[in-house]
Order: sequence, then structure tokens, then C-alpha cells
Amino acid sequence: MNENDPPPHLSSRRDFIKTSGKIAAVGALAGIDLPLVHAAEDNTIKLALIGCGGRGTGAAANALGQSEAFGPRKLVAMADVFQHKLDGSVKSLEKKYADKFDVPKDRQHIGFDGYQKAMDSLKEGDIAIFATPLAFRAVHFKHAIDKGLNVFMEKPIAADAPSAHRMIALGEEAKKKNLKVAVGLMVRHCRGRQGLHEQIEKGAIGDITFMRAYRMHGPQGSAFTDPSMRKPEMSELMFQISRFHSFLWLSGGLFSDFYIHQIDETCWMKNAWPVKCQALGGRHYREKNIDQNFDHYQVEYTFADGAKLFFYGRTMAGCKDDFSSFAHGQKGVGVISLGSHHLAKAGKIYKTQDMKPENQIWSFLKTPDEKAPDPYEMEWQDLLEAIRKNEPYNEVERAAKASAVTAMGRFAAHTGQEVTFEDYMKNEQQFATLEQVEKMTMDSEPPIKADKDGKYPVPQPGILRNREY
Ligand SMILES: NC(=O)c1ccc[n+]([C@@H]2O[C@H](COP(=O)([O-])OP(=O)(O)OC[C@H]3O[C@@H](n4cnc5c(N)ncnc54)[C@H](O)[C@@H]3O)[C@@H](O)[C@H]2O)c1
Repeated sequence: MNENDPPPHLSSRRDFIKTSGKIAAVGALAGIDLPLVHAAEDNTIKLALIGCGGRGTGAAANALGQSEAFGPRKLVAMADVFQHKLDGSVKSLEKKYADKFDVPKDRQHIGFDGYQKAMDSLKEGDIAIFATPLAFRAVHFKHAIDKGLNVFMEKPIAADAPSAHRMIALGEEAKKKNLKVAVGLMVRHCRGRQGLHEQIEKGAIGDITFMRAYRMHGPQGSAFTDPSMRKPEMSELMFQISRFHSFLWLSGGLFSDFYIHQIDETCWMKNAWPVKCQALGGRHYREKNIDQNFDHYQVEYTFADGAKLFFYGRTMAGCKDDFSSFAHGQKGVGVISLGSHHLAKAGKIYKTQDMKPENQIWSFLKTPDEKAPDPYEMEWQDLLEAIRKNEPYNEVERAAKASAVTAMGRFAAHTGQEVTFEDYMKNEQQFATLEQVEKMTMDSEPPIKADKDGKYPVPQPGILRNREY
């Protein structure tokens, strides 16, 4: 068998699709509830969920909840490092998807090796879902590639340049094995944003000269950590994992974890990655917090043609909230996001820089009551369709670049330096090595420790210029 040929059971799935007149174009049927078309065990795609928190549970629900036109699916194994997280996820999924939930206690795994045990329940062509903090992506992905599994992994996928290179290399290995790999930058799958991208390509706003993106809100997730959040029974490592947005090695910090979407979606509209950036940032209110994040960031990214992306991030209560992104061209403005990742009020074009209703010339949604397609559903429909049709599908390189461009913005703010993408990709600071993560057990020491005052290392712009701490 040629290495690019699909595994035999996948070609049978594909043949089944071809021969089933009913679902000649699965995508066209997306969202329509069809009767069960086939329930033979051979055609069932098995899923394993690794990282059973909020998003992991959501991603599993998105996978199981798609129409039967995408073929039979079953969740068969789950893994986490905290029992309460796994229990919560089991409770929510087993109730809602009773007929597709087949995870008995002996396939519910706790521990750092749980990912291996969960993936052991899958066969080639099944899907592993990775929704742990990003620090574990490369280790889990490597194992999935070895086992010939398709993957859905959450963003971001790299916290620093060395991990971005590693993920790109793994992505290439996955391609050689014809594995389908999706990354949770779901806005790319939003039909409304795809429509907007197409309009921009056709010249609806002229050449893009600058873009703006905002993510400003009060404290979210585990970004700010004070010592009282540590439970006495928790080890240092488990404490850090439970507060993963607070630590650069685990998440790339709040900057990478929260801001990647808007940075990625604007770069998509421009069809380019920035070549350099400079940035500001600081911690206005630190209070008792001991984490590594700033509470405000501003980044000016520059593209090869001189166009700019201005990014504003603030995590501060009591200030103006904003969650939006816009592409400004010579002839008008495209609204990429407004209010949330959902299409909501976005996917619109205005014919001048003044976004008054009378200047609107295009909208993906044709009426105010039209239901916006949900990008979290779309990304699963696209992956499942690629698997069923055995079409090439690999989002790793693009997502690794989005992760690296995001990390470059954070690096510029944390060091106070202007940096080119080329130079950033040569930066050697690696927050956690593959070996450290691969060998991690519940008793391991984490890659960073607090100082004698209980504080973790923080960036010092202008003092530390080539590393973030
Ligand atoms: N695409 C999106 O819009 C979106 C939204 C939210 C979160 N996310 C991403 O999903 C990931 C998880 O975020 P979340 O909000 O669900 O966090 P969460 O804390 O709710 O879930 C993470 C889970 O992973 C578990 N975990 C940690 N290390 C593990 C390991 N080594 N093995 C197994 N399990 C492990 C944790 O115990 C936890 O249950 C992050 O990368 C985040 O950026 C994406």
C-alpha cells in the first residue's frame, strides 16, 4: 500500500459515501437532520477526548451532534488529569448524547499517560480530540500520528518559536500519512466570514491598508492568579495546570490563548502573515496576583506591503469592553467580528470608512432574523466531510504560523523590542521542552517555579530583550 493511500477501512467509508446516492454532497446537507443512513460498526468513527474541560466537552458535543449524514460516530474514551473535570464532562455528554456515548469507567483515564490509554481505544482513521492546555499538544499529536489517527486539536498549538517549528514538522508527518488534522481556529470555517473573505478578494473594499482588532474585557479564565487559589492538597504542577492561562509554558499566557482568533482572522482577510511587529503592554493592577500576564497589550503588526494590523487587548474590569475586528480598505470596511466569535452582527461591508447603516453594501446574513451558521459546528462538518470523502485536510502549518505570529506580538510587548517574523522564528526560548512534557507525572516539578516571595517570573521590557522572562 502506498503511504498516501487511505487505510482500507477509510476507503470503505469513502466508497460507502460514493455509492449512497442520498449523500452525494454531504456538505450540502450540513445541518439537516437526516434519518440514520448506516449504522454498521465498520463505518463508525470512534472518538477519544483528551482534556475534558469546557472546550473539550464542547468539541465532543459538536462532533457527536452533527447530522447522521456525516456517518455514525461514537465517543469511546476520555482522559484528563483531574477527576472532577472528567466527571463533569462525562455527566454532561452521557446525558445529551446517550446513544453515542460509550465510555465505561475502564475507558475513563486519569493521569499524564491517559492520552495514550484513550488513544489505545481507537483504530486508524478514528479521531482524537485534544483540548488540554497547549503545552501537551506536540506530545499528544506525535502519539496520534504514530497510531494513524485523525485529530481535532484546539488552538493555540504553539507558545514559542521552537514549539511552532516542532508542530510544523509533526504536521508534515501527518500529511505523509494522509491523516486529517483540524485546529480549532473555527472562524476560518464560518460561512459568513468565508463570504466576507470572498468579497474582499473580489475587491469590494479595495486593497486593505490597515486592520484593527480588539479583545477587551474583565478578567477571564485563569489569567490572573493569587496564592489563595491554590488548594493545599494540590502539587505545584497541578496548581499551575489548574490556572493554565497564568503560565506561559502552559498556554502562551492570556495573549496567545485569547488573542489568537482575532490575529488569525485579520491575517486571513489580508491573505498574509505580518513580517514584523512592535508592541506595548504592562500590568497596571497587579495586586496580590503572581501570574505571568500583563493586563493590557497593544501590538502594531506590519505586512510586507506596509499595511498594518493594530491589535488592542485589555483584561481589566470597569473599562470599555470590545470584541471586534475590522479590515479597512481603500474603498470601504469589512466587519470581521463584532461582539463574539459567532457571526452575529459581523460579515458586513460598508462602502466608506463610516460604518453608518446607509453605507452598508453587503451582508452575509440577508435578514436580521436569519440564523447565523455556528463556526464551532462548521469546523466539525468540514473535518468529518474530509474524512468521509478522504480528501486532504491538514490545518497544522497554518495554525502553527497563526500561533507563532500571535506569540511574536506577545514577545514584542514582553521584551519591548521590534521583531521580524524571521528573527522571532529563530528565537530559542522554549518555555517547556518536549522531554519535560513527555516525562511529566503527577509528581513532576513544573518548568517554572515561584521565587521566595511566591511570585513567578514576569517579563521586563527593555531589560530582558531576547527572552520573555
Ligand atoms: N476555539 C475556541 O474558541 C476555544 C474556546 C475555549 C478554549 N479553547 C482552547 O481549548 C483548550 C482548553 O481550554 P478550556 O477552556 O477547555 O480549559 P479547561 O481548563 O476547561 O479544560 C482543559 C482540560 O484539560 C485538562 N488537562 C490539562 N492537562 C492535561 C493533560 N496533560 N492530559 C489530559 N488532560 C489535561 C484539564 O484538567 C482540563 O480539564 C485551550 O487550548 C484553549 O485555548 C478554544
